[in-house]
Amino acid sequence: MDTILNLNMTVEQYAGDVRASLAGKVGKEPVLLLISGGVDSTVVGALLLKALNPDQVHLMYMDTGLMRKDETTHVKASLERLGAKHFHVVYCEDEFLSALKGITDPETKRKTIGDLFITIQEREVARLGLPETCFLAQGTIYPDIVESGDVGKGARVIKSHHNVGSPLVDAKRKSGRVIEPLEKLYKNEVRALGRFLGVADDVLRRHPFPGPGIAVRVLGEVTKEKCDILREADALYMEELKTRTGPSGQSLYDEIWQAFPVLLPIRSTGVAGDTRAYGWVLSLRAILSTDAMTAGVYPFQMKDLLEISARITGSITEIGRVTYDISAKPPATIEWE
Ligand code: XMP
Repeated sequence: MDTILNLNMTVEQYAGDVRASLAGKVGKEPVLLLISGGVDSTVVGALLLKALNPDQVHLMYMDTGLMRKDETTHVKASLERLGAKHFHVVYCEDEFLSALKGITDPETKRKTIGDLFITIQEREVARLGLPETCFLAQGTIYPDIVESGDVGKGARVIKSHHNVGSPLVDAKRKSGRVIEPLEKLYKNEVRALGRFLGVADDVLRRHPFPGPGIAVRVLGEVTKEKCDILREADALYMEELKTRTGPSGQSLYDEIWQAFPVLLPIRSTGVAGDTRAYGWVLSLRAILSTDAMTAGVYPFQMKDLLEISARITGSITEIGRVTYDISAKPPATIEWE
């Protein structure tokens, strides 16, 4: 397989080759890229903006209301720093929250989100009015393709609405107009390429984030109020992990492969001053992994856990209790839904 490493190329040579082949293939046609805010799509965006005229490059990002705190602002700013001129934000929080109303079954939630994603994507791409000849770029990386061969396995179904089977992708693929410049790279190589292209370090270091967003971290019915509580808790948890140092000397955030809070659909008894309170229960997850297929629990120092928990319950009055999830994968999955 032609990766940067086994071709014995420097990242600089590899970036040069990819840029030349991209420019050759695309010519003067426009290119559309759906941005998720994750590492892969951001690096593809950076590559397109370097290889082509930024006027050709159309980036579309869906603000589903299921993202982390201030995510749209950060994602837009990071792509604009990389030279983006056409960054289209689709505000569709109301549509997603309405579609999710009353749904508690995890699989129905995922299916509802995936289907709506595709519907909105089709509608908004049509609204852009790009010519038939436009190309579609994707952030597919090598492990995605390996997983694709495994038709029917859970991992493939999970990612379907992002990388594989939307009608738009199918149509573009049929006409030979899909470009996947990271398809030969592993994640660490994508990061190296991104660093070379000037993608900000905090984007490259980001923990993985699921396609359905925090909808799978607000257990049970998803409401705006619960999403806002979870977003606040997530922001505090991440800030704590980034400012605390772990045994290796790195921040806890960099030692941990993936961390996030989960809002449970139950309240528990507590005290607030002289009165009884019924706050929500929040569970913290932090895991170590290399490929997300298996995962171990991060062995926090108890002092860190206690302080993080106290900060969360002290700052977010709706949360009455914090627990730490000590289940490995298997038998548990990384996400709760
Ligand atoms: P699980 O929960 O299956 O998660 O152990 C494995 C890894 O995949 C992420 N994940 C997703 N990623 N779309 C994605 O792109 C999804 O629907 C999705 N669901 C889970 C999860 O965060 C973990 O890193």
